Amino acid sequence: MKAVVLYKTCSPLELTVSDIPIPEMKPGWVLIRVKAFGLNRSELMMREYEGNASYIRLPRVLGIECAGEIADPSDSAFHEGQQVVALMGGMGRSFDGSYAEYTLVPVKNVFTVDTDLNWNELAAIPETYFTAYGSLFQSLQLSSSDILLVRGGTSAAGLSAIQLARCTGATVLATTRKDYKREVLLRQGTDNVLIEDGTIKEQVLEIRPDGVTKILELIGPATLFESMSLVKQHGIVCVTGILGNQGTIADFYPIKDIPSGVYLTGFSSNHPTQKLIDEIFNHIKRHNLRPTISKVFALSDIGQAHQLMENNTANGKVVVSLNL
Ligand SMILES: NC(=O)c1ccc[n+]([C@@H]2O[C@H](COP(=O)([O-])OP(=O)(O)OC[C@H]3O[C@@H](n4cnc5c(N)ncnc54)[C@H](OP(=O)(O)O)[C@@H]3O)[C@@H](O)[C@H]2O)c1
Repeated sequence: MKAVVLYKTCSPLELTVSDIPIPEMKPGWVLIRVKAFGLNRSELMMREYEGNASYIRLPRVLGIECAGEIADPSDSAFHEGQQVVALMGGMGRSFDGSYAEYTLVPVKNVFTVDTDLNWNELAAIPETYFTAYGSLFQSLQLSSSDILLVRGGTSAAGLSAIQLARCTGATVLATTRKDYKREVLLRQGTDNVLIEDGTIKEQVLEIRPDGVTKILELIGPATLFESMSLVKQHGIVCVTGILGNQGTIADFYPIKDIPSGVYLTGFSSNHPTQKLIDEIFNHIKRHNLRPTISKVFALSDIGQAHQLMENNTANGKVVVSLNL
């Protein structure tokens, strides 16, 4: 089969397609015929530097999610030809992932879907919408009366969070570093666009003098302290992303660093369940949503697809189709 194998960390255009054997079946795992997959920041980090980490073993087929059909259900309750999505559980990191014609995935990371989305749209959903949905509704407990600030709004996760939040009736403020991307955020339903130019605090307080009620932090620890100063009493800040290239905080002193009466939480997409995936697809159907797709590439153009993501000009989910 054709697959994108990471042999060593490399630049986007050094990614190539290899011919490797179709994975061998084993109990508790199912074989998926991949129809399309979305790109993720974590694959970009794997390609760029994380592939050198002691806990990663190369060569590795990249890819933490996909949409496809069951090719071999093994000993599971799935049946051949069933439409599924698969995500996480070590895909593309501790075992070979989805940048391939076939991928072998543990049963617990494979989910049935009830949807009228096409394959490319479906491929844009699993990891990104699970992350956005979980951050908003599990961690931030978002409701219609909330004033939400999304930092890193033009990321695929940010755009889906804005879309999901607007369905609930919440007011949404969102940020980008680039003035020319205002339109991207407004098209998504953002009420107020803010520019990450070092004056976010002033911009928020000008629009909302008392602050906002919820913040989805996709830039991460790099802007977290400022975000915690921008929520009202009993407001919540959820750290989900690390776009600011900082994952940890040295000498974090919770008593002093978290303002009294402000809640700090996080979200990790490590534990998807069929119940949550069903909730997400019900929400998508109920509100007639379509994911914001940047561009669809063929597998042979994986280098260009990674380059688009790395350039930060995608403004939506980058998808690779196995049917092109
Ligand atoms: N917690 C979890 O389980 C989980 C799951 C999925 C993703 N994530 C994280 O969520 C974040 C978004 O992922 P994604 O795949 O949706 O990303 P993406 O689509 O590749 O994000 C691209 C956007 O990131 C912004 N950006 C890039 N570098 C930045 C920087 N240094 N400071 C501020 N903004 C920057 C750019 O916005 P502008 O140019 O418009 O400013 C660009 O439009 C990532 O950090 C990812 O690791 C976490």
